[in-house]
Amino acid sequence: MDIVILLGAPGSGKGTVAGKLAATNGNLKHVSSGDLLRGAVAKGTEAGKQAKEAMEAGKLVADELIATMIKDVVAETSGDVTMLLDGFPRNLAQAKILDEMGAPVKSAVLIDVPDEIIQDRIAGRRTCPKCKAGYHVKNLPPKVEGVCDICGEKLTIRKDDNPDTVKDRLVVYHQQTEPLIAFYRDKGILKTVDGTTGVDQVAADFIKAM
Ligand code: AP5
Repeated sequence: MDIVILLGAPGSGKGTVAGKLAATNGNLKHVSSGDLLRGAVAKGTEAGKQAKEAMEAGKLVADELIATMIKDVVAETSGDVTMLLDGFPRNLAQAKILDEMGAPVKSAVLIDVPDEIIQDRIAGRRTCPKCKAGYHVKNLPPKVEGVCDICGEKLTIRKDDNPDTVKDRLVVYHQQTEPLIAFYRDKGILKTVDGTTGVDQVAADFIKAM
């Protein structure tokens, strides 16, 4: 097993690219920290109860809480698999936790999208609560409006996708997550792809980069 970290602002397309690649390549496994946390909130677990408030405010949840979830997923993954790790690490402390775990990080790929594009991306995002497929009302619409192509579930808007919370999430990204770009550049494993092209192009560039 090895690990490719996806870096990028909220709404840059990390989940879309990782989901698309994992759907067509059985050796790729998409692990999204946001999906793990939303799952815990939906189930009402102790971790979910602790995470809920920070998530709805667009703040980061406690490092140990999410690190424990990621450690469990890493421990249960083996064999000829590349894990596409989306949303973790989110700050330098989490990157150090990942290093201390001895996680086999092969590369960190930054999906580069300027802030001006982010609000539009997130405003149009629709998500399937059941199978986690992601859509955009203009850029990546489902075949039937409001309905998931894959499982037929009614699409929803994430609670933290309102414009004020998105502004806060971008501040958190620039202050806490962006330093990871220099961290992985210094390790010699940072790659960057242009995230402003279409989904297919970003996915193709990502595969080459990783
Ligand atoms: P998380 O779920 O990780 O959210 P995020 O990083 O803010 O990222 P998003 O899921 O919003 O965006 P994305 O980059 O995946 O974009 P997407 O592919 O959907 O985290 C949520 C919260 O959980 C955090 O705020 C925090 O509270 C907590 N959390 C999570 N991890 C944590 C951690 N490690 N530590 C602490 N707290 C943590 O694309 C967006 C839209 O654009 C979609 O509609 C899509 O269809 C469209 N789109 C995508 N690509 C393209 C393209 N190339 N062209 C046109 N449209 C596109």
